[in-house]
Amino acid sequence: MAIETGDGRRVAAAEAAAEAAIIAPRRPVVAGGFPARRMRRLRRGEGLRRLVRETTLQPDDFIYPLFVSEAISEPAPITSMPGQSQWPLGTLARQARQIAALGIGGVILFGIPSVKDELGSGAYAADGVVQRAIREIKDAAPDLVVVTDVCLCEYTSHGHCGLVREGVVQNDETLELLAREAVSHARAGADVVAPSDMMDGRVAALREALDESGYADLPILAYSAKFASAFYGPFREAAESAPQFGDRRGYQMDPANGREALREVELDVLEGADMVMVKPALPYLDVLARVRDRWDLPLAAYNVSGEYAMLKAAAANGWLDERRATIELLGGIKRAGADIIITYHAIEAARWLTEP
Ligand code: PBG
Repeated sequence: MAIETGDGRRVAAAEAAAEAAIIAPRRPVVAGGFPARRMRRLRRGEGLRRLVRETTLQPDDFIYPLFVSEAISEPAPITSMPGQSQWPLGTLARQARQIAALGIGGVILFGIPSVKDELGSGAYAADGVVQRAIREIKDAAPDLVVVTDVCLCEYTSHGHCGLVREGVVQNDETLELLAREAVSHARAGADVVAPSDMMDGRVAALREALDESGYADLPILAYSAKFASAFYGPFREAAESAPQFGDRRGYQMDPANGREALREVELDVLEGADMVMVKPALPYLDVLARVRDRWDLPLAAYNVSGEYAMLKAAAANGWLDERRATIELLGGIKRAGADIIITYHAIEAARWLTEP
């Protein structure tokens, strides 16, 4: 009994069958245009569905995060992020060529130094781990866009994103250290710097320092609306950057605040950000959509470590179809308004999207 096709004869058969079962087909006369309007017409087959699809994903939508550690000589898998590892220097050329070959839009680098100190000096050392990683990647894959995370938390002994005095993260002094860090990334060959510290005024500080150092053309991707999220847990294991006392609620945003996120974005735009970001992605899709409505700049979303870990855990238990769930999730982030998605799924998703 083919009731799906909608042609008159089969419908008649279906009606006959329905009658036999004493079910009269209901045809409301004034209900929202039905039966003239039938939304299902454009869902009849993949050809039509593809033609009217509003959002599509491509590998160049993605930025893939890479953790580079100075303290290891073999790749070290990250337990809470199945499929992800810390990479030693010397293994990045191969990684970079593979990522570029998949057509992925870029990488974002996080460094784990072998020594941490109060001032996070490894963050702005000319031969620091990220600076060396940038050179290695640019040598191997010159066209692959290299973004660097500009923050101190991976480099400070206390694990906070800035300079600490009497238990308080100092805003204005931190700006000077972040500016040094961004300039040293630029000198090493970074294509984009992305401040993730959430100090006030950091975009302006970076812009000024970059301009003074001859990098007026280097774009800034600001982690503008970065929330104090529980979903960074696995990252902090991966980057060894958990705060040793207190938490980050004194500088990262309160998860309850959407309007404040718009103010953060506005300030970063006024300070000279070339691109802005909302982070995490999934619990903040409303924020992403509101930023998209209000601003025309390229907008990034960070699909963070905890979001990745949740999906991987469910998939490992057989509770979700991993491939479909991943594509749906990334598509949702794009539909909400993201132009760029920073995601640990980048490599597998690029394969799924391009393989026949
Ligand atoms: C800070 C930084 C963090 C992440 C990116 N940059 C962690 C934090 O703020 O504690 C989190 C990314 C993720 O969870 O995937 N340098």
